[in-house]
Amino acid sequence: MTRATEARLDLAALRSNLQRARELSPNSKMMAIIKANAYGHGLVRIGRALMEDTDAFGVASGEEAWALRMAGIQKPINLLEGFFDRDEFAQIEEHELDLTIHHVWQVNALAEAKLNKPVNVWLKLDSGMHRLGLAPDLLDEACDHLMASGNVASLGYMTHLANADDEQDPFTNEQVSVFDKTIDSREGERNIANSAGIIAWPDSHREWARPGIMLYGVSPMLGKKGEEHGLKPVMTLRSRLIAVNYLKKGDRVGYGGTWECPEDMPVGVVAIGYGDGYPRHAREGTPVRVRDQLVPLIGRVSMDMITVDLRRVVQPRVGDEVTLWGEGLPIELIAEAAGTIGYELLCGVTPRVRMVEA
Ligand SMILES: Cc1ncc(COP(=O)(O)O)c(C=O)c1O
Repeated sequence: MTRATEARLDLAALRSNLQRARELSPNSKMMAIIKANAYGHGLVRIGRALMEDTDAFGVASGEEAWALRMAGIQKPINLLEGFFDRDEFAQIEEHELDLTIHHVWQVNALAEAKLNKPVNVWLKLDSGMHRLGLAPDLLDEACDHLMASGNVASLGYMTHLANADDEQDPFTNEQVSVFDKTIDSREGERNIANSAGIIAWPDSHREWARPGIMLYGVSPMLGKKGEEHGLKPVMTLRSRLIAVNYLKKGDRVGYGGTWECPEDMPVGVVAIGYGDGYPRHAREGTPVRVRDQLVPLIGRVSMDMITVDLRRVVQPRVGDEVTLWGEGLPIELIAEAAGTIGYELLCGVTPRVRMVEA
């Protein structure tokens, strides 16, 4: 018998979520963000599933882009952090990758490069996040330098929003206004909105948008769930009960004995733990779905197992299906209970979890 822990992936839901992004930002071309192993869902699998429907892909490194090209994916691929070293140019040319240029050192390196063919560039402006991007007063010189080099085929403009997950925060409008003032009437396509921008900030919609987390069915907005935006979960993390133990009042459960049975009761052991990416810091009471019943997590999360309170489950049995997040149990609830975000949970699913297409 194999361990039952698996992540079921609903690729129809993935495509429906991309469609939802198009409905929300109807005049934008979509650059599907599939970095970090497509937020834990499998880079090539997700690349193939979206290949027909997306206009481009965004990834974080040459390695990710090359893996997509090796898998036969022909759509434009943008390296969201550009190149890390000049020795990447040969492969960038060979695989026809687009570059985000975010710093003066990259402007200079690209302008000085001996390329056989010019590349497409997204010039990234720092509109206030102060992570990556050129300061507004450096933009003119950077554009002139790049265009004079002959190494640039097309020049577009991009920025990233820092606080768009908070609908009340006026900073997003400030960033959009800095972007607009700086880019002004320049020729070239614009690209601002991430998932939160697509969902909540129509003023950030431009010729392009960059949906990430929403493609996977998860809400980027504070206190919201994906279904509230018409999104469907792509990953459902599942396992099974591997033991049902009838414990006595006062018995303590798991490492540290942090949970004490208030009465005689059934406790279930589920084959999932932090070794699979289930968060070690999920607090007591975090919802877990056993068959169709939500039950609370009890005791500490171990490497391979968790324990749950089965008092609400009618005749629990070894082998009963358990859902940790996804269909029927929004990941946002688990993230909240573990003091993290859905992004981290998805990216943290470990290789020993079998990925199964539903
Ligand atoms: C530059 C850039 N654009 C877009 C995204 C997608 O963001 P989200 O997953 O919040 O939609 C990311 C993700 O971190 C990013 O770094």
